[in-house]
Amino acid sequence: MAQLWGGRFKGKTDDLVYQFNASIEFDKRLYRQDIEGSKAHVNMLGRQGILTDTDVDSILKGLDGILSDIESGRLEITSEYEDVHSFVEAVLTERIGDAGKRLHTGRSRNDQVALDMKLYVRDRIDEMIPELKGLMEVILGIMEANVSTYMPGFTHLQKAQPVTLAHHMGAYFEMFKRDVGRLRDARVRLNECPLGSGALAGTTYPLDREYTAELLGFDRPTANSMDSVSDRDYVIELLSDLSLIMVHLSRLSEEIIIWNSNEYGFVELDDAYSTGSSIMPQKKNPDIAELIRGKTGRVYGDLISLLTMMKGIPLAYDKDIQEDKEASFDAIDTVHACIRLMSGMLATTTFNKERMLASAAKGFTNATDAADYLVGKGVPFRDAHRYVGEIVLFCLERGIAIDDMTLDELRDICPEFDEGIYEAIDIKTCVDRRNTIGAPGMDAMKNEIEKCREFLK
Ligand code: ARG
Repeated sequence: MAQLWGGRFKGKTDDLVYQFNASIEFDKRLYRQDIEGSKAHVNMLGRQGILTDTDVDSILKGLDGILSDIESGRLEITSEYEDVHSFVEAVLTERIGDAGKRLHTGRSRNDQVALDMKLYVRDRIDEMIPELKGLMEVILGIMEANVSTYMPGFTHLQKAQPVTLAHHMGAYFEMFKRDVGRLRDARVRLNECPLGSGALAGTTYPLDREYTAELLGFDRPTANSMDSVSDRDYVIELLSDLSLIMVHLSRLSEEIIIWNSNEYGFVELDDAYSTGSSIMPQKKNPDIAELIRGKTGRVYGDLISLLTMMKGIPLAYDKDIQEDKEASFDAIDTVHACIRLMSGMLATTTFNKERMLASAAKGFTNATDAADYLVGKGVPFRDAHRYVGEIVLFCLERGIAIDDMTLDELRDICPEFDEGIYEAIDIKTCVDRRNTIGAPGMDAMKNEIEKCREFLK
């Protein structure tokens, strides 16, 4: 047990209490942010004349040494300290003597941990945005290669109208684009520096908070010291954004699972991204997609944990807030892994274009176009809808597609039909005529793809 406090205590902390209270097992990953924050603090203390240049120099060198020793594996962060903050300070003092004990002047672990978490969350956002863009790059590659890969579009998981694979994947591009936007927004809002707020009420030392904020890449210092040490909105905001990313990854996983089923056969997953069965030799399972779908619940759970944990916190810092770490680290790590796995899985997936086209050609995805054709001949849409309904029934009874009907059969139901109907209900025509903004037609799609490219630049 090594603690930063103890002067006012006579007795020793109970072992179980010590373990229950300690956070080093999970907050040790904050060591880099902790050292970065301490260096800024010490630089400022020197500039304000609160510490001597000699002390500042030796503290900075000491901190740099600790950082490089941790990174090289020479220094291990062990559980004998209460948290990462205590660890760094204790090692520093052990190495440089009294100057180490001056590091914490004008600071509390409350503003220190608030800073560490902000720096950490910010770092992980900065890492996640390019990773999401990497996934979007894979999606865009599939879009570019498949502007004329026809497939059924579904509503209610029933074949509705024909679309293309490019169009279908483009929907996911938009979802992830919004996710990138949300991460960027969250970053802007969190970018205020809590360092210098002290335990809750600021400090009597003449700290220059503007300076430390600037050193650490923040836009400004936070405005209220009580809020600063107890605010975890930014963690919750990040977890909300991560939850939405998981919604999107999970929907995409679900599609891959359906497309990979024997009945659909739209995709073939690469061996590297699928698994077998211990008993059924024929199996090739989409476990990775299923796991991503499954882990979605876990990330929502982390978000709910934090929302619930924060809702009863009276100002300012309370120890409950230490619980922000495991939940947020778990959510961040999970989403990080899921984005990378989804990218790899999609990049190696083969699309069975023939099966997609055959599936679009069956199931009456061109029924709306047949009705629209009659509208072009002057038939009111409501009547056209009814005629085509009768046509579908006719086909269903015979197990054929509209395209298989003879012109006489079509005319028996509605005399307005003529030769042009076959071209009009050809799957390619159905898709390529749809060129309103956002539609699957070739021209509309090329436009969209150009904008997607622009976004990724
Ligand atoms: N380990 C603590 C946390 O993560 C650090 C802050 C401790 N502050 C305190 N007043 N005990 O929240």
